[in-house]
Order: sequence, then structure tokens, then C-alpha cells
Amino acid sequence: MTCTIFVPRDSTALALGADDVATAIEAEARRRGIDLRIVRNGSRGMFWLEPLVEVATPAGRTAYGPVDASDVAGLFDAGFFDGGAHPLSLGLTDALPYLQKQERITFARVGITDPVSLDDYLAHDGYAGLRRALSMAPGAIVQEVIDSGLRGRGGAAFPTGVKWKTVLGAQAVQKYIVCNADEGDSGTFSDRMVMEDDPFMLIEGMTIAGLAVGATRGYIYVRSEYPHAIAALNEAIANATAAGYLGIDVLGSGKAFHLDVRKGAGSYVCGEETALLESLEGKRGIVRAKPPLPALSGLFGQPTVINNVISLASVPLILQKGAAYYRDLGQGRSRGTLPFQLAGNLKYGGLVEKAFGVTLRELLVDFGGGSASGRPLRAVQVGGPLGAYLPPSRFDTPLDYEAFAAIGAAVGHGGIVAFDDTVDMAKQARYAMEFCAAESCGKCTPCRIGSTRGVEVMDKIIANQDRPQQIHLLRDLCDLMLAGSLCAMGGMTPYPVLSALDNFPEDFGGSDAAPDQKAA
Ligand SMILES: Cc1cc2nc3c(=O)[nH]c(=O)nc-3n(C[C@H](O)[C@H](O)[C@H](O)COP(=O)(O)O)c2cc1C
Ligand code: SF4
Repeated sequence: MTCTIFVPRDSTALALGADDVATAIEAEARRRGIDLRIVRNGSRGMFWLEPLVEVATPAGRTAYGPVDASDVAGLFDAGFFDGGAHPLSLGLTDALPYLQKQERITFARVGITDPVSLDDYLAHDGYAGLRRALSMAPGAIVQEVIDSGLRGRGGAAFPTGVKWKTVLGAQAVQKYIVCNADEGDSGTFSDRMVMEDDPFMLIEGMTIAGLAVGATRGYIYVRSEYPHAIAALNEAIANATAAGYLGIDVLGSGKAFHLDVRKGAGSYVCGEETALLESLEGKRGIVRAKPPLPALSGLFGQPTVINNVISLASVPLILQKGAAYYRDLGQGRSRGTLPFQLAGNLKYGGLVEKAFGVTLRELLVDFGGGSASGRPLRAVQVGGPLGAYLPPSRFDTPLDYEAFAAIGAAVGHGGIVAFDDTVDMAKQARYAMEFCAAESCGKCTPCRIGSTRGVEVMDKIIANQDRPQQIHLLRDLCDLMLAGSLCAMGGMTPYPVLSALDNFPEDFGGSDAAPDQKAA
């Protein structure tokens, strides 16, 4: 009997030696005359266990990890290919608490299937959403997405279906679907995991979007730092095209949808939707003034849906199972699930898909296991480099767009970066200004000049030079950037700066940091 062994091909696993492990398993099986098949699956998202090797057994998949190439001979001695006991054995993968406690609906296939095998995708509910969409009128598809309550997962949380409705209503010969796969936020990797580990899901979501709004062409703009994602997408697109799921006549419907991957230009601001469109057109990535909205005048001046990877990847499930299935999860106006990404100083970093409403504490402690250093957690930054720093007193805040806005924070793309009590929050505030100065597109003064002045002011605060006056100046500068910046790059840089100042005043000279402090 042939045994099936799963060795991930996700970049996290590759970085930790998964290729060497796969090669060692192959060689050892040959040496021992054991017949086995190695499937290169995606990652289960439990990064501290990578490379996580799984074995198909009659009871389900059994996990071993983290496996090093040097462990392979011992695993064979223990009969791991039949699920045999070994110090690295973790039991049935699906029974691992980290996975059991999640609501993996968008990430249901991630880590299970061979990412570039269309047959595997079809065997795991793939393309059921597109088949249903093909039987519906464009307006009905858009309505289904509106009814699901799905909001953009790239950061701004704008209702996805409402955006699509604007594009559907626009008159043009050519419309476009653009996927924002620039994923520049610190500590984020959910887009990358979708592209590397379940690329057909994104392709299917974009095809449904094309049918919904009448767009026949799509582009996936992927950051250049994601070579494995680019390769997986290109292979999956070729397979989908060969099987008639993409091209001039999608599944014989008479409707066309062509899809191409474009490599990004390596700047954080190219993730801002209008700068991305400029870059996609071959120009320098500079933010465009709005209006016009991209929905009316986007790529090459044509009506364009631009959505984040997770927004588009959520669509096949919504079409397959219906809007209510998705909308019934979550709380308030935050419906469905979000794949949270646990990073920074945490014992168990990885991907956790949960319905909105889970608290930060549950994510940090129940899933993350507290700090990796063993020291108390002092701060977490949620929502990327423009997100607020939250102290432990905020850890019971539910992850919900409105609940976060109410405390001056943002859920953003769901990246959560944890820091222990050795962090210096004044240095983190300086870093926020420095990051903005480095990544600013330069179009507007509050961001271009403000961030550079912000670094200078922070340097003076850190050096304890005229602290009260400098802190007053810093608050003033943040007000100006918040109100006067053209886009959220300059407009949100004050979030990490002010939250550090307000929540951790002791790192800025204690009472000097008080909001009502006036210049002497
Ligand atoms: C500086 C900056 C960087 C951004 N980077 C990204 C990014 O990497 N990925 C992303 O999906 N959205 C990013 N956004 C948000 C996009 O402008 C836009 O809101 C998003 O692509 C819309 O898709 P959604 O509605 O599906 O979220 C960024 C915004 C700003 C201001
Ligand atoms: S806020 Fe910064 S990134 Fe945005 S348009 Fe102005 S200069 Fe460019």
C-alpha cells in the first residue's frame, strides 16, 4: 500500500528546511524500499511547528513537528508512515487545540490540499461558488455579497458588495478586477498564505467578481518579496485556463475572464489602491486624489474593482453557501471571520481564523500562549505599521471594526504584533515617523515634510531636550497630519505615535507626555 506524506511548500516551512525534509523522506523511503507518495501541501499556519509533516492514516492525518532532515531516519524507525509514536508526534492534526478552536471557513482548504492541483481543489468544494454564480444575474451576485456583510479586508473595511454595485452600474467597454496583494503591513501573511496555499480560491473569487460587474480582465498585483506566491499563482492560473475556468469562455458560459499576475514595485505606499493602479499602469507609485473613485475611473481610467486578497478569497464561500452562512458569524457590523495573524514576541505565532468578536486576550493568550520571551506582554500593535499600540488594559477589546475605532485603533488587515516589557515605546513612536518618512509618496506636505520633522522631534524627546515643548509640538504635528494628509499613510501615522504617547507616557518622561501639556 502506498503511504501519503504531506510536507508543506509554504514559504514559512521552506524557510525552516521543508525542502530538505522532503528530500530526506524520499531518499530514506527509497533506501528502505517503502512505497510512499509525498504531497507538497500548504501550511496549517502553526509556524512554531514547521516544517509540520503529516501522514494520512485511517483515523485522519497525524502530525509530526517541527521536523528537521536529521529526524527523518528516526521517524522511519518509529514507523511514522503508519502513524507510529515518536517524540515529535503530535497526534491527529485536526485535534490540535490551535486548529480546533478556530472557525476556519475561508482557510478551510489551506494546509489540506496540494495548492496547484485543480483536481484537489475540485475535490474540496472548489469552484462550487463560481458554478452557482454562473446561474445568477450580475445584480443578484452583487446583492449576495452585499447581504453577506463582507467588508474590505485590506484595511478600510468598506462594504465589498457596495463597491461592486458602483462598478456594475458604470458604463464602459472595458472594466477591470484588480487584486491588491501588496500585503505590506508588518506581521501580516494571510494574503501570502492564500496565494501560496490555496491560489484557486483567489482566482475563483476574482472570476466571480468579473461576472458580477461585467469585467473581462483581472490583475493580481503581488509584492515582489513573494516569489513563491507569484509562482503558485502563475501555475494555478495556467491550470485553470487549460481546464476552461479562465479564458474567453468560462465553463462554456460565453463570458470571458482573463487573469494575469503583476509583480509589485517594492514600496509600502504601492499598497494604497490608487498608487497601486499607477504602478500597475507602469508609472511611479504616487497616490491619486479622490474623486474620481477607482470604481468609476480606475485602471487605465476604466471602472475598476480593487479588493484585497482576503476580500476576494471570501467570495467563493459566500456564493457557495449563501450570504446568511457568512453573515451569521461575527458581531455588530463586523460580519464573518478574519484570519488574524499572530506575530512578534509570542510563543505560538501563526494564522488564526476566527469570527469577529474574539478578544485580543484570547488571541494573545489562548492562541499565542503569551510572550516567547516569558516576560509580561506590554504592548500590541494591531493593524500594521499605521495601527495603534494597545496596553494590557485594552486586551479585552473585541476584534470588531467599530469597537476598535471607539478606542482610537484599527483592526486593519488583522496583523497583531506583540511586544514584551523590554520595549521602548518612545523608540517605537520614532520608528512610526521614520517609516512614514521613508515610505511617503511625497505628494502632500503634511506627510512628506511632517514625518521628517516628526523624526527630529522624537529625537529631541528621546534625548530629553525641551521635552514638554517637543511633546506639545509632536501633538500639534500629529493633528496636522491626521487632518491634512491626502491618504491614510500620513493620515494614520499619528495612530502609533499618539497611542504610544497616551498609553505609555512613562517612556516619554511621565507627566511631560500629558495631553494638556503646553509649551513653556
Ligand atoms: C499606505 C497604504 C498602504 C496600503 N496597503 C495595502 C495592502 O498592502 N493591501 C491591501 O489590500 N490594502 C492596502 N491598503 C488599502 C487600500 O488602499 C484599499 O483600501 C484596499 O485595497 C481596498 O480593498 P478592500 O476593500 O478589499 O480592503 C493600503 C492603504 C494605504 C493608505
Ligand atoms: S499622505 Fe503621504 S503617501 Fe499619502 S498622498 Fe500624502 S505624501 Fe503620499
